[in-house]
Amino acid sequence: MALQRIVVRGGNELFGEIPISGAKNAALPLVAAGLLTAETLTLDNLPELADVGFMLGLVEQHGAEILRGPRHVEITAGTITSTTAPYDLVRKMRASVLVLGPLVARMGEAKVSLPGGCAIGTRPVDLHLKGLEAMGAKIELVDGYVHATAPKGLKGATIRFPFVSVGATENLLMAASLAEGETVLDNAAREPEITDLVQCLQAMGADISGVGTERLVIRGKASLHGARYSILPDRIETGTYAMAVGVAGGQVELVGARPDTLEDVIDVLNRSGVEVTPTTRGMKVKRNGHRVHGVDVMTQPFPGFPTDLQAQMMVLMATAEGAAMITETIFENRFMHVPELARMGANVTVHGASALVRGVPKLKGAPVMATDLRASISLVLAGLAAEGETVVNRIYHLDRGYERVEEKLGAVGADIRRLTE
Ligand code: EPZ
Repeated sequence: MALQRIVVRGGNELFGEIPISGAKNAALPLVAAGLLTAETLTLDNLPELADVGFMLGLVEQHGAEILRGPRHVEITAGTITSTTAPYDLVRKMRASVLVLGPLVARMGEAKVSLPGGCAIGTRPVDLHLKGLEAMGAKIELVDGYVHATAPKGLKGATIRFPFVSVGATENLLMAASLAEGETVLDNAAREPEITDLVQCLQAMGADISGVGTERLVIRGKASLHGARYSILPDRIETGTYAMAVGVAGGQVELVGARPDTLEDVIDVLNRSGVEVTPTTRGMKVKRNGHRVHGVDVMTQPFPGFPTDLQAQMMVLMATAEGAAMITETIFENRFMHVPELARMGANVTVHGASALVRGVPKLKGAPVMATDLRASISLVLAGLAAEGETVVNRIYHLDRGYERVEEKLGAVGADIRRLTE
């Protein structure tokens, strides 16, 4: 693949509207859910992202037929031809582990390569595995693969998570939908993407109660059927562009946004002096002239402030009047953007899980690079506010999670372009 970079010239305010795409982190488990039934699962509002392509490639490799149209896919897993998720596919994307639950539940076995360590911390999958074990699966680790077997099928169980995990909740929700008897997931994640998965599973015939709460009760069915489901708008993309307006100034309507999935973020933005108001089509974000104020944030599971917006928030605070303390409680190593932001003149001191950000009047353009998705977009945002030119290298990560980022920002007046060498 040709090396690509994004070049941003800072200083332009943003005006107009940005359409919000379907949520990446809802799309990935929904594609995996296609493996739960022999009938067709149709997903609408599918975002066009590299990660979605990987996930479709993975389920196809398990035997599903994939019919893709614009923003739309039909997944038909009539027969599962392989229950192995190979290293080469899994290493590209951690969310591949989400095929584990559906495969064991439907086929009585699965072999999934263990996702390796990752740029944002060690990220183990022990909760996924313990949950499947509680449901009667035998788990073995062989040559870097998790081998899960349940020849007589999975059995309902009561599982209490010691802490909130989005992925483990999703994997076990899917597994429990085809298990025998009742499963209770206690201290389950409540992210809107979980609710999206529950609603899609319900449309496929699953019996699930407690949607949107920390206690999900699933009464397993012998089989699920096909369904058609429309993926919810991406709250992290929404929050990212809201912060872009906060950073650059101007006024932009985020069309299709769902403000009810971002209440904490909207509150933080309003307190910082970025005005966010719901509209009939989404929400409007505005900052005129004045600098934003420092506001402290701590990342938390939903409905708290999302870890996936922490890096972008840091950029907003980097140009604030006053200081802000940003505390990351979900991942142990998610401050990789800090040294890059420092190269652009940001004043940030990290102590363990907290970063003290002292706002500066202006950032300065520089060549930068990041090793994960949200860190990469934060550098683009920093470029919007910086004096001069910022070149973001290794934008491969950006394309995993932001659809046509340079077009969306360019259309509201940002000076941004993609260079291919
Ligand atoms: C999901 O990851 C998202 N990914 C992440 O988005 C997001 O940052 C994260 O949830 C938190 O909101 C997808 O939805 C595909 P977790 P996930 O299990 O499911 C620890 C992005 O930028 N843990 O809720 O992997 C784990 O290490 C990405 O779009 C265990 O210890 O997150 C972490 O510290 C990055 N054992 C914490 O729990 C386990 O078995 C929360 O992780 C599972 C998790």
